Amino acid sequence: YQGVPLSEISNICEKPPRLMDMMDVRDPNHTFLIQPFKYDPANEDCEPKSILEDGSYVDEWDQDHVRLPCSPSYVTKNGTQRWSIIQDALRKLQRMAETYMASVEDIKETIEECAGRTYQLNCLERLLNEEYSSDERAHFLSTVLSNICSLAMNVHKICSKPPPLLRIGSNRTVTMSQRQCASLMACAFFCLFPRRFNQKVGSEYENYQNPNFNTLFQGGRTGGPSWKLEKLKCVFNYFRRITDKMPNGVLSFRRYRLPETCLPKWADSKEPLCKLHVTKNKTIEDMDGLLQVDFANKYIGGGVMNEGCVQEEIRFVICPEMLVSLLLCEVIQANECVFLIGCERFSSYRGYSTSFEFKEDYTDKTPKDVWGRKLCHVVAMDAIAFRDRATQYKVPNMRRELIKAYTCFRIPAGVTDEKSGIATGNWGCGAFNGNKQLKAIIQLIASSQAGRPLVYLTFRDQGLVTSFYKVYEHLQKEKATDDTLSMIERWRNRLETKYKLIVHGHGDEEARGVGYAKNRAVQHSSGRFLCF
Ligand code: AR6
Repeated sequence: YQGVPLSEISNICEKPPRLMDMMDVRDPNHTFLIQPFKYDPANEDCEPKSILEDGSYVDEWDQDHVRLPCSPSYVTKNGTQRWSIIQDALRKLQRMAETYMASVEDIKETIEECAGRTYQLNCLERLLNEEYSSDERAHFLSTVLSNICSLAMNVHKICSKPPPLLRIGSNRTVTMSQRQCASLMACAFFCLFPRRFNQKVGSEYENYQNPNFNTLFQGGRTGGPSWKLEKLKCVFNYFRRITDKMPNGVLSFRRYRLPETCLPKWADSKEPLCKLHVTKNKTIEDMDGLLQVDFANKYIGGGVMNEGCVQEEIRFVICPEMLVSLLLCEVIQANECVFLIGCERFSSYRGYSTSFEFKEDYTDKTPKDVWGRKLCHVVAMDAIAFRDRATQYKVPNMRRELIKAYTCFRIPAGVTDEKSGIATGNWGCGAFNGNKQLKAIIQLIASSQAGRPLVYLTFRDQGLVTSFYKVYEHLQKEKATDDTLSMIERWRNRLETKYKLIVHGHGDEEARGVGYAKNRAVQHSSGRFLCF
């Protein structure tokens, strides 16, 4: 690596953020689906209780809440409550599972009966009938399936009320238990969430993902590509694990919008450069105790329910509780982000994208905070997807990315965090086609402004480790402070005089024919290039 050692980067596992007693949280924007609870590491078996302990259910059937399948307002065209149809179908399937009689065809029939429509579920069929060993198949179609049925059938008792949606502009947080999360996931497994299949313009959920598993289960005639099957293996490993033992932790999903008044005056900023650790062999999900960046889609989860299989999708299938965010989150705006707090990791993997494979079960030993949440903080940070790479150097686009990164990195008022480090990397530079050098600078500026150390993982790119650190060292020597675009300008000038690294001219992003052809370049707004 280059830069400071990781031991010098502040870490929330070592210094957990100080949290208010749950009982004292008076924030009307924070919804708890559990009763106030204090996690006691000495009593690991203690499980948070649902908000209504007696098993009753309070319905909310409106535009601000998840429409749960158990709602009395969810009715068929002829007025029958769909929940009774669903419960009958699930009870029947569960009986079959318990007598070792259930087949993939039965799951399909159940899903179709519940939704009142037909599906093609070739990927699910291929996994269970062709990929799984006979033992794996038998275990899934009996014990695991029966448990998924129970979790879905009891969603009204387990959750007690529908979680609110995390809508655009709201600074809303939802806190729930891992069991409640599992119950919502079980409903997604049977594709029970109403109105979510239609994402057409003008439909109620046009700005949301479809959290139901129908597209995840679907595959072409051959059952879909291998990596999709492998994603499903990860998700099913989660269901297997929670069937063996239901975890008893807590999770929060928090939407955050940067207030106008908190927008930094970049040109006047006197924040010094933050500490930097840059390395090539580690991945973001391995950086325990740091704020881990999810290279997100503005529709959170991106292609996780389809064929997508890059950083975000992989993260969501190895930590499937994150999939609940698809149920909750409306499309993320430029000055917003979503924090996924406490999600457990259940699988390890190898490969990436088309070579992605489920490797094995993973035991997540991350310690918990006093609310019982794993000290795992992930932030969904969506970059701009550039069709034309040249447009990323336009100032409004650079500014948008800078504000986005700052929104994610900034520690909001009221949160006590010892400015823990940020684990990120080539954000926006894979599927979204951005330039690594530019994004590295943008993230360095944002983390410096937020006063937090940056851990930059280059994903096997040694050249970037060296070149990024060279620029950083130079700036450090010059005691650069952090004032964004003018800083880029200053870097350009210094680099020009000291290292003669500037290439003049417009045109290709690659610096052409000036001896630095191999260097990737950042085009300055003046039309010049700044090379690392
Ligand atoms: N740790 C560190 N770096 C990584 C990791 C990892 N685990 N995985 C990948 N990289 P990409 P984007 C590096 O393409 O361009 C999804 O569909 C690697 O160099 O996932 O922001 C979302 O839902 C990789 O090329 O992020 C969005 O729709 C680079 O990070 C879209 O992709 C970028 O990873 C976001 O695309």
